[in-house]
Amino acid sequence: MDAYSLLRPLIRPLQPETAHHLALKALKYRLVSGVPYDDPVLETELWGRSFRNPIGLAAGFDKDADVPMQALALGFGFVEIGSVTPRPQPGNPKPRLFRLDEDEAVINRMGFNSKGADRAAWNLSHLPPSRQLGMIGVNLGKNKDTEDAAADYVIGVEKLARFADYIVVNVSSPNTPGLRALQSRAELETLIGRVRDTLERTIPDNRPPLLVKVAPDLTDADIADIAAVATTGAVDGLIATNTTITRPETLRNPLRNEAGGLSGKPLKDLATRVVSDFYTATEGRVPIVGVGGVASGADAYAKIRAGASLVQIYSGMVFEGPSLAGRTCRALAGLLKRDGFDRVTDAVGADHR
Ligand code: FNR
Repeated sequence: MDAYSLLRPLIRPLQPETAHHLALKALKYRLVSGVPYDDPVLETELWGRSFRNPIGLAAGFDKDADVPMQALALGFGFVEIGSVTPRPQPGNPKPRLFRLDEDEAVINRMGFNSKGADRAAWNLSHLPPSRQLGMIGVNLGKNKDTEDAAADYVIGVEKLARFADYIVVNVSSPNTPGLRALQSRAELETLIGRVRDTLERTIPDNRPPLLVKVAPDLTDADIADIAAVATTGAVDGLIATNTTITRPETLRNPLRNEAGGLSGKPLKDLATRVVSDFYTATEGRVPIVGVGGVASGADAYAKIRAGASLVQIYSGMVFEGPSLAGRTCRALAGLLKRDGFDRVTDAVGADHR
């Protein structure tokens, strides 16, 4: 039994947002730790960058880059901070985070609570110079009251790209009015064009790769449109998926009708399908980060076989605790070897062959 199992009965009765704050504090002061699992079969090379394993911490956990090194020390191969908005903003009124225990799911309508880009930049600029532990991605959002959305992402790039191993344009959170409309083809082309120009101007050498994070609630036409933009070379990767605004019939907890985005187990298969659809639509030419409902090595392996080059976790940690990264890596390595793969890269998209 690990320390988290002992603590769980104490954490459960807390408001989820209080529990989240405690988790951040415990990480900050290194009161919790994980057991990283290293294995050559998990090492992967993407965008000219080396990942010690393909399992990352998804955006939303460390919104202000308070604990990226501690999160990496749990055994994640990479950590995505954010979403960061240019100016600080409080997000939606509380309560805005709900745990659906019997469904192993979370509903959130945080609404981009962010301490702003200057604070995140300060935090990132004070990290130890050695980043050998893992990669740090920076996920950008927009302020609620900004009309010219692209201008906000441009500010995010100007302030944060120099600290980022990769940059994410998040156009898929369901809790900022109008945000998901940026996924339409014309809007996305314009947005990506401006962000990319800014990246090339700000960091002409060794520009970090530019990723777009998409929703799970896209139509086939939406997927075709986004894939068309991505395969022009304007985008270096896709993150699929964000939380869903749908509510599967299977949900049991009475909180299921709270407004917001649903994540965790009920999102798993939907997100895997979206990964698979994008892999097909892009003919495997655009790296995909698979996220949604991953809570085990088998879940991560399913995302990889569907077409994901990297995998992320958030809600699974809420239920499984901080040792999940190491356990997922260990189990994934076992599954890859069982099926005769020497390197995780060889398994990417295996279900399509
Ligand atoms: C998120 N997620 C998220 N995504 C993002 O791009 N920017 C953000 O600020 C947040 N914030 C956020 C807060 C909370 C409380 C949750 C639960 C989730 C979405 C997250 O990164 C991920 O895409 C989904 O949660 C699906 O993965 P899991 O949670 O099922 O592993």
